[in-house]
Amino acid sequence: MPITTVALIFGGKSAEHEISVISARSIAATIDPEKYRTIPIYISHSGTWYLGGIAQDILDIDLAGIMRNTSLENAAATLDRMVETAAQEPFGHDFRAAGIDVAFPVLHGSYGEDGRVQGHLETCGIPYTGCGVLASAITMDKALTKLCVADAGIAVAPSRTILSSDYVADRDSIIGSIESEFAFPFFVKPANLGSSVGITKVHRAGDLPGALDQACFLDTKVLVEKAIAGREVEVAVLGNDDPVASVCGEIEPASDFYDYQDKYIDNKAKLFIPARIPEPLQEKVRSAALRAFRALGCRGMSRIDFFVDEKNDAIVLNEVNTIPGFTDISMYPLLMEASGIGFKELVGRLLSLALEP
Ligand SMILES: Nc1ncnc2c1ncn2[C@@H]1O[C@H](COP(=O)(O)OP(=O)(O)O)[C@@H](O)[C@H]1O
Ligand SMILES: [Mg+2]
Repeated sequence: MPITTVALIFGGKSAEHEISVISARSIAATIDPEKYRTIPIYISHSGTWYLGGIAQDILDIDLAGIMRNTSLENAAATLDRMVETAAQEPFGHDFRAAGIDVAFPVLHGSYGEDGRVQGHLETCGIPYTGCGVLASAITMDKALTKLCVADAGIAVAPSRTILSSDYVADRDSIIGSIESEFAFPFFVKPANLGSSVGITKVHRAGDLPGALDQACFLDTKVLVEKAIAGREVEVAVLGNDDPVASVCGEIEPASDFYDYQDKYIDNKAKLFIPARIPEPLQEKVRSAALRAFRALGCRGMSRIDFFVDEKNDAIVLNEVNTIPGFTDISMYPLLMEASGIGFKELVGRLLSLALEP
């Protein structure tokens, strides 16, 4: 069988740059060298693409270790210094000339997970792993995701969408109407960010203006959302036209909610695989995950996150991640492994799915 050349694209312009580097490093270490040749492509913080050379050097360092032992800022500065010192010519986006058969974008958040890089690859005629342009774009926007899945009969948290420009123009009336519409506590979150950046659980009226100021500063659209009781349950979905859903996993946040500190700094949140809910309820979550995957037009993969309250059998879809984390402690590969698909096989399957017509 001829060797397929895979471009592993990582880094990127979002706040989740460093997580992307760590995810890409574990994928690079897992791709079967008998079947695939891997060409790393690194997108710097400022958005410049580099093929090989510095991209390989960055994959070779233990960025997770640097983050753990120092700080995220120091890890980011290390990457910038490496790029500067290497003084390498940027990649000219001639994928064909580089012999690339398929791309594996391992980019989290804006620019990489939201359809922009996917659109670029389509324009260049390069097949790629994961969701296409539309599903990537919709799922990046939490308000649009909820509209689409609600239309498919899946429950979502009651919420109101606010345009940041409207808020800035008339803070007082928006604050007043939110206070009369939502019972404390509730959530304020930017529509298009990830990693819990800019999200506040608002417990009292005094916290509302600060929460809205922050979210509206970070994004043009903001959601005010009812707080949903229950466990945080996640499902990994894999496939194109005939997708499969993994066993359910559960995250028990260490703090008031699963915030940035808990995700990337404290590492105190607990993972449970399978989720601590009865099997019939797990089956219901899996089936909702598959329905959501189809309704959103997802392809390849997605991690679909729910709130599940076993007291009244209620499941509420929270959000969909089309390029979930791929570090060795990330939920998506762990869920697939628990469902009988090991990391190496998973990467191979994603590449085969990308090459399906
Ligand atoms: N409506 C809600 N009810 C309860 N908890 C919520 C709600 N919205 C967000 N959270 C908490 O905030 C975390 C991050 O919110 P989420 O919408 O998943 O954004 P992100 O894309 O940043 O992960 C969730 O994992 C959960 O702990
Ligand atoms: Mg989330």
